[in-house]
Amino acid sequence: MSFDLSVIPHKNIILAVTGGIAAYKSAILVRRLKDFGFDVRVVMTHGAQAFITPLTFQALSGNPVHTELLDPEAEAGMGHIELARWADLVLVAPASCDTIAKFANGLADDLLSTLYLATKAPVWVAPAMNQQMWAAKATQRNLQTLVEDGVHVIMPDAGEQACGDVGLGRMPEPEDLARQVAAYFHKAQRAIAEKFGLLAGKRVTITAGPTREAIDPVRYISNHSTGKMGFALAAACYAAGAKVTLVAGPVSLDTPNGVERINVKSAMQMLDASMNQLEEGCDIFIATAAVADYRVAEVAEHKIKKAGDELAVSLVKNPDIVATIAQQQQRPFMVGFAAETRNVEEYAAGKLVAKKLDMIACNDVSRPDIGFASDENAMTVFFAQSYHLEKRELEKASKQEISQQLVEAIHDALLQK
Ligand code: PMT
Repeated sequence: MSFDLSVIPHKNIILAVTGGIAAYKSAILVRRLKDFGFDVRVVMTHGAQAFITPLTFQALSGNPVHTELLDPEAEAGMGHIELARWADLVLVAPASCDTIAKFANGLADDLLSTLYLATKAPVWVAPAMNQQMWAAKATQRNLQTLVEDGVHVIMPDAGEQACGDVGLGRMPEPEDLARQVAAYFHKAQRAIAEKFGLLAGKRVTITAGPTREAIDPVRYISNHSTGKMGFALAAACYAAGAKVTLVAGPVSLDTPNGVERINVKSAMQMLDASMNQLEEGCDIFIATAAVADYRVAEVAEHKIKKAGDELAVSLVKNPDIVATIAQQQQRPFMVGFAAETRNVEEYAAGKLVAKKLDMIACNDVSRPDIGFASDENAMTVFFAQSYHLEKRELEKASKQEISQQLVEAIHDALLQK
């Protein structure tokens, strides 16, 4: 499973490390959590400090490490109540038998057990211990109490243990734990987006990238589109709560998290895939693809051999995908893009009318710093007259930021529909 970090909100994690040999894995866990963009503060019990030093965690987390309940200096900075409030999630890894027993019985005789009682944040425990201690009735009884109290217990892995035993009790790998935490916040964020996002519940189809029109089995006609604009827009629409399908020409980009992708090569294939999406249900159609306007009339079955000084290839017009979809009776909200090298706004406004679109975003592709292949873009957005919306200038910014502004523009127009 992969995650688009841009849709995981900034969150504060308290990683509580208790006494056990698995504490060494927690150092790597700090790194992995930070990789996901989390702010991490480490709390250590006295037992944990017998296995690994606070200094290690301080260096890795970039934050002071909290070890004492009644340390006046620590309480003056971030005391146990502030820590409990700061946390969006408390992850206890490894969680020793002793800590589990304290949690289950409401003891409050050190920083971690006090923090546990004082926090409103979800608490996750990743028990790690000898397999016999894991199986002990008291441990299982305490774990059952924690589950009943709403604590999320992460099952330990089975395998060879530091003490030589074989069985359940190993702490899961740090990558795995960090991924579970990220998935938790990702899922929560997704649920919010689906309920309250600007495009909550909308079905969006986006064409992206170039098309490739074959000349013979080894040659083709294409253009400079890389798909970056369309893929960024797909991620932004998904983050805004939409169900997104990308109809992608041949590009070498990873599919944004949560987005369905259909790969095509030619304009005819892109049209077919787009029409299928219309049949499956589409509320918003966005055409960022640079579709070849013409294709070769007759594609040679075999590689064309070099012969005379000149070679004439006859071309025929491709169907206009976005215009075809705009003509359908049950048409979605139609968003076109316009790539121009001169008279940018005039030509774009013409396409808005000619293709019967609701909205068009144009960019000047003669500029080397924006448009094709660049990570940035600058656009002017026009709306169909019926929307009574002023044109919008989107200043030069990353394609991700431009996409968020386009999502807002689509949302504003939909409000008027
Ligand atoms: O992919 P990147 O490297 O990130 O570059 C982004 C981009 C420059 C390709 C993008 O920002 C952009 O401008 N896309 C539109 C490119 C284009 O083909 O524009 P156009 O003016 O030729 O076409 C107008 C509209 O009709 C577009 O929405 C296009 O997708 C659509 N069209 C065109 C021809 C055709 N046969 N079918 C279509 O649907």
